[in-house]
Amino acid sequence: MELKIIKLSGDGIGPEVINESVKVCEAISKKFNHKIIWNEGIVGADAIDKVGNPYPDETHNKCLNSDAVLFGAVGDPKFDKDPSLKIRPEQGLLSMRKKLGLYANIRPTFTFKELIDMSPLKRKIIEGTDIIFVRELTSGIYFGERGRSNDRNSAFDTCYYKKEEIERLAKVGFDLSMKRSKKLCCIDKANVLESSRLWRETIQKMESKYPEVSTTYEFVDAVAMRLIQNPSEYDVLITSNLFGDILTDEASVISGSIGLMPSASIGEKTSVYEPIHGSYPEAKGKNIANPVATILSCSMMFRDFGLIEESKLIDYSVRESIKNGKLTKDLSHENFVTTSELGDWIVKNIYDFKF
Ligand code: IPM
Ligand code: MN
Repeated sequence: MELKIIKLSGDGIGPEVINESVKVCEAISKKFNHKIIWNEGIVGADAIDKVGNPYPDETHNKCLNSDAVLFGAVGDPKFDKDPSLKIRPEQGLLSMRKKLGLYANIRPTFTFKELIDMSPLKRKIIEGTDIIFVRELTSGIYFGERGRSNDRNSAFDTCYYKKEEIERLAKVGFDLSMKRSKKLCCIDKANVLESSRLWRETIQKMESKYPEVSTTYEFVDAVAMRLIQNPSEYDVLITSNLFGDILTDEASVISGSIGLMPSASIGEKTSVYEPIHGSYPEAKGKNIANPVATILSCSMMFRDFGLIEESKLIDYSVRESIKNGKLTKDLSHENFVTTSELGDWIVKNIYDFKF
């Protein structure tokens, strides 16, 4: 297969984790006889510094011409100090999501046997956790009308959803649960919010198309609690943009390090694969970042192309490296390996694997 992939490395540790992922994708294509045609584009603070726009048209057009986007991270502390700044790196991510129509953000949370004790949560609570969030990504309060009063002393943000937006997101959730344990939890705040009542109403109407799926509805505050009390209770969880943002950060704690969790954002035009961690500016250029989240995002990418064996080999090679104690600094204070060493180990595991 020939694949056109664009790298958007962005800021902070983005370039380092993307580099390791490219090594892994190249190893996979050699092993399975694929050809990847790489392109690259600028995004985030890097793009603001270079051209004054965190998601320039040129980058957007390159994404449109790619089969997939491999995304690092955006964000730079120099923009965080002044809330009045008009142009910010995060806007690059948000406009990419909107312009590419990346409506469904798939964020799995799982544990590695060897790393269970790295989690601040008790082993008996998190053992066997394997859940997937499907977060709506192009609407809701992130993109609704917002503003300030003339005296600037009051402000508002609007959570706005259309039925069609909920339906297409819910379809991803239902389809995913059909491939898994057929359990779908819909998270909302329907006891208070009208937009949540529309979510519930819309999804309830879809239930008859998926008679095998057992669908439950829970309030977001309750899920925030139960997620860390008994994560194994859940399988596929679907929710709106803001609730999904908050809950997926919470869920990442289960795995032991946010540096481990991948994501895929399914789009109308192309799809984006990215680690769920941010730009981690303190670690920039130090070769200490954990590349696993980005490498596992590549595994999700191959899976979405229907290349299941390729995806499995990446997962296996990552697991093998963890099993052999090859851990970056976030998971091991002594005897840690560097970002590039871990990338090399994973690549070696790919080449060493005998079919
Ligand atoms: C995420 C991030 C983004 C979000 C920020 C950087 C805009 O936190 O991808 O979860 O809030 O969606
Ligand atoms: Mn977030």
